[in-house]
Amino acid sequence: MKKVGVALLGVGVVGGGTYEILTKKREYIKQNDGIDIEVMHVLERNTTRCDELGINPAIVSTDITNITKNPDIKIVCEFFGGIEPARSFIIECLKAGKSVVTANKEMFSKNWPELEQIARENNAGLYFEASCVGGVPIIHALTDSMQGNKVQSIKGIVNGTTNYILSRMSDEGVDYATCLKDAQALGYAEANPTADVDGFDAMYKCSILSSLAYKKRVPLDKIYREGISQIKVEDINYGKELGYTLKLLAISKNYDKIEARVHPVFLPNEHPLSSVKGSFNAVYVNGDNVGDLMFYGRGAGALPTGSAIVSDVIFAAAQDKPRRFAWEEVKEVNDADFEKEFSSKYYVRITVKDVSGILAKVSAAFEKFNVSINAVIQKDAKDNAELPIIFVTHLTTESSMQAALKDIEGIDGVVEVAALIRVED
Ligand code: HSE
Repeated sequence: MKKVGVALLGVGVVGGGTYEILTKKREYIKQNDGIDIEVMHVLERNTTRCDELGINPAIVSTDITNITKNPDIKIVCEFFGGIEPARSFIIECLKAGKSVVTANKEMFSKNWPELEQIARENNAGLYFEASCVGGVPIIHALTDSMQGNKVQSIKGIVNGTTNYILSRMSDEGVDYATCLKDAQALGYAEANPTADVDGFDAMYKCSILSSLAYKKRVPLDKIYREGISQIKVEDINYGKELGYTLKLLAISKNYDKIEARVHPVFLPNEHPLSSVKGSFNAVYVNGDNVGDLMFYGRGAGALPTGSAIVSDVIFAAAQDKPRRFAWEEVKEVNDADFEKEFSSKYYVRITVKDVSGILAKVSAAFEKFNVSINAVIQKDAKDNAELPIIFVTHLTTESSMQAALKDIEGIDGVVEVAALIRVED
C-alpha cells in the first residue's frame, strides 16, 4: 500500500482538528483510498496543546528542517495563519519538493503567483480547499465539477462571524456592538475583529474563488470592499418591510468583464442565501450550462475545516503529478478584463427635516443623475421633527448614485444620508 508522510505546521484549532481526523480515520482512509497517511512531524512550540491532542512528543519540534530534510514527508499542512512565518515556511517546504496544503486565505490570496511559481519549479503541489468556506468543498466543485461551464457569477456568504452578527441583529433586534461582543465571547470573532467585520476575510476568499471560477487571477486590489460595522438595526427592519434580508456577500460576476465586490447586501427573502443563518456559510454559483448551484455548510471550526484539509491531503497523496491549472501561468493582471465600475440597485435612507417640498427636491436630485426610483417609504417625524425617507432605486451605476448623494447632502432640509445599502436580485 502507498505510504505517505505528512507534517503539520501548528496544531491550533484547525491543525488539531486535522490531526484528529488523520489519526482517527487512518484505517478508514486506508480501506477507502488505498493510502496509508501518517502524521510524521508536528511543528509546534505549545507542548501542552500537543499533549492534549495525544501527539507523541518524539515527533514534535520547532525546527522546520526536521520536515524539509525528511524524505518520507511528502505533504505539509500549514495552519499558522497570517503572512509570516507561514509564507517563508511554505516556500521552504515547496523548495524541498513537498506538496503544501493550506487554509491560510490571507497569505494565499496575497502570494499565490509567487507560491505557484516556486511549486512549479520544484515539482510540488499547492492545495487550498480549506482556504475558502471551511468544510464546504467549493474549490473542488469549481475546479473539478464545473469544467463544462463558463461560471458567470458567484454570490457567497463566506464569513461566519458577520453572518452570525447580522442574523442576530435581524432576528433579535440586538445592536451591532452587542452582537460583536457576543461573537467574541463565543469564539466566532477575534479580539481584533477587523478582518471579519470590515470584509477583509471575505475579500481574500472572493479573490481565490473568483480567480478559480473565471480562470484569471482576480487580485485583491480589483475587489471593492465594505464591512458591516455601520449597519443599524433600523435599516434591517426597514429592509424587512420591503421583503429583504441583509447579508454580507462576496459577489463576483463574469459576463463581458469581471467585477468583484464585498459589501452588505439586501437580498429578497426568497433568495436561497437569505435563509442561511448564524455562523453558517453558503456559496451560490451560476454556470452557463448547469444553471444555479448552492453549496452550504460550516465555514469554520476544527473538524469542518480539518475535513477540507484532509480531502486535499488525500488528493495530493493520490496524485503522481501535482495538480496544475493551465491558466495559473498567466501572471499578468490585465486591467481591460475588469469592469471600471459596477451597477446595482440601492436602498438609501435619508434623514430630512419635516418641511414641505423636501421629498420633491430629493427626488429631483436623483432624477438629475438618472437614478430611477422604484419605491419610496416616508416614515413619521420623530420628536425633533426629523424623519427618515427610504428610497429603493432601479439599476444604476455606482458613480451616478454617489454623485446624486453628494448633491442631496447639499439640499437645504436634508440632515444626512444615513444609510446606503446595495440590493441584489
Ligand atoms: N473568521 C472566519 C469566519 C473563519 O468568520 O468565517 C474562516 O475563515
